[in-house]
Amino acid sequence: MTLAEKIGQLTLVNVGPGVLPGDLRAAVRAGKAGAVLDVVDVATVNELQRIAAHDSRLGIPLLVGRDVIHGFKTVLPIPLGQAAAWNPELVQQGARMAALEAAASGVNWTFAPMIDIARDPRWGRIAESFGEDPHLAAVLGVAAIRGFQGDGLSLPGAIAACAKHFVGYGASEGGRDYGYVGIPEVDLRNVYMPPFRAAADAGVATFMAAFSDVNGVPASGNRFLTRTVLRDEWRFPGFVVSDWDSIVDMVPAPVANDKARSPLSPGMEMVSTTYRDHLPGLLAAKRVDPRLLDDAVRNVLRVKMQLGLFERPVTDPAVYPGVASAANLALARELATQSLVLLQNRNGVLPLASKRLHSLAVIGPLADDAYEQLGTWAPDGDPALSRTPLQAIRETVGARVTVQHVRAMSTTRTMTTAGFSEAVAAASGSDAAVVFLGEESILSGESRSRASIDLPGNQMDLLRAVKRAGKPVIVVILAGRPLTIEPILADADAVLYAWHPGVMAGPAIADILFGVESPSGKLPVTFPRVVGQVPLYYAHRNMGKPASQASFLHIDDIAARTPQTGLKNASQYLDAGYAPLYEFGYGLSYTSYAYSGISVEPSRARAGLPITVRAVVKNVGQVAGDEVAQLYVRDLVGSVTRPVRELKGFQRIHLAGRKPGGFVSIVD
Ligand code: GLC
Repeated sequence: MTLAEKIGQLTLVNVGPGVLPGDLRAAVRAGKAGAVLDVVDVATVNELQRIAAHDSRLGIPLLVGRDVIHGFKTVLPIPLGQAAAWNPELVQQGARMAALEAAASGVNWTFAPMIDIARDPRWGRIAESFGEDPHLAAVLGVAAIRGFQGDGLSLPGAIAACAKHFVGYGASEGGRDYGYVGIPEVDLRNVYMPPFRAAADAGVATFMAAFSDVNGVPASGNRFLTRTVLRDEWRFPGFVVSDWDSIVDMVPAPVANDKARSPLSPGMEMVSTTYRDHLPGLLAAKRVDPRLLDDAVRNVLRVKMQLGLFERPVTDPAVYPGVASAANLALARELATQSLVLLQNRNGVLPLASKRLHSLAVIGPLADDAYEQLGTWAPDGDPALSRTPLQAIRETVGARVTVQHVRAMSTTRTMTTAGFSEAVAAASGSDAAVVFLGEESILSGESRSRASIDLPGNQMDLLRAVKRAGKPVIVVILAGRPLTIEPILADADAVLYAWHPGVMAGPAIADILFGVESPSGKLPVTFPRVVGQVPLYYAHRNMGKPASQASFLHIDDIAARTPQTGLKNASQYLDAGYAPLYEFGYGLSYTSYAYSGISVEPSRARAGLPITVRAVVKNVGQVAGDEVAQLYVRDLVGSVTRPVRELKGFQRIHLAGRKPGGFVSIVD
């Protein structure tokens, strides 16, 4: 290979929407582009592959990358929503389905799963994560990788997965995207790295470097991360791609420390062209070891060979099942249903049963918005495929219940009250009101951090106005992050958290509202009372002055001139206490479960030997449901301080209820 051809294999070119960049065909023919991203028209992909495989000197096919994050054409719940289902089998099936839909377009590489640990809901990319816990993120990340890569990378329909963003991106300072990340190595290794280690051990084909400046050395050139840990310790054989321009992004934050930096790692440059522009000179000046270049090229070629690209460079869409098939939509519905988390259900207002219901008001900017329910990072989604909550509610109740719909706000950020009176009138004239609130999809995702995580716009005022109609109010929230929703609890008889549930949002939400399914989702992330509590997560360290109810005196209850020693000293906020609004792992059901017969074998743990924990779980309620049994441990004494508890296992189990035949449902 010539130097230009070697560098070409490390060059990932953005094709983007519309026509091919004129010089791209020439670059592929000259072997100067080894990979492309953001082209999903199979005819165009095949044209480029034929040029690469048959017209270029070496005939090396292209990697074709795409952000297949939560579905391709059939959009699944955002990953944070998928995490709320605590169902690795379903996550794997979802990724497999997405891989088949994407592969039919010529895509052979996805920039997923995103397995950053996210403990700051101000950070917009929490939407793409599997939440705050290393174990849950590791299990679900591996499930997604197995789904994308299938039974073997060389088989048709397998696409290379990409563990991203390595590492610590979710700890961006202040929740501001692309921010500095200061994480002690002990926390890097105990919290942020485990999902990536699990991904490497599961055979993920590629990694993506984070944008982040990690402890003073940007991840896109960080020797400790990409050589010491990834190569020397984990023996990772794949390649690392930079993030979009993340190599150029290091220029404003220069590091003159050859011991900390690692040239040519990442081994592929996304979009920017520093390798093409500067590597020849650096090699000539002997400032970069040519063996590093050969290693990087070898890693890329190995993945291309694993994918069978040399044997099968061109895609025949006919060998793939169609997109958005009934089976795919059914899978999206099942995953969306299991992702929904019931946070409040006062007086059993849910499920809505037909005996008491003759009219229903469906209100809010997200009740019937086919686009917004898809969420962030759904570049190939098609809103025409969406079934909205309003549509599904109408289909479920049929002629039995009169449904009135009032959008009331044009977007979730609307500040006028123009639509309120119509909403109040609809609620007044109905037996109950279901109010759909939350965030539009553009308010979460990359570069979408928010300093306040309240409901945007004047949605609170809309809810209060509707509540004044005096009818039961059910609030359904679609959002890409935990929102500070404590202020709505007084006005909402029930609260169902739906994240952005994808194309089948409607049927999933309707199935829960009307009791066709019992809610089973559990929070994959802590919900703070106020944003000032952030970061707030369950696996926190203990401390010498831990907070407790006994020590907490609300700021409004402190007597004037209380002496300095007049209050207990504890780790809490005078104005927000210390507890979250909802804990990690929380979620209500329409039934209830009893745990008994818990056993631990052996009773005394010995290093390196397994411990088996057993429990008997019973459904002691009327209706069937899925329980997510969760196992937490606590390391009482470590070489460093240890979390007060850590998730180490979980299992979703379906249990029949006492009522034969299942649910109280409006369909009865
Ligand atoms: C973006 C994201 C990354 C994505 C890539 C390609 O900037 O950070 O997650 O995969 O560019 O779109």
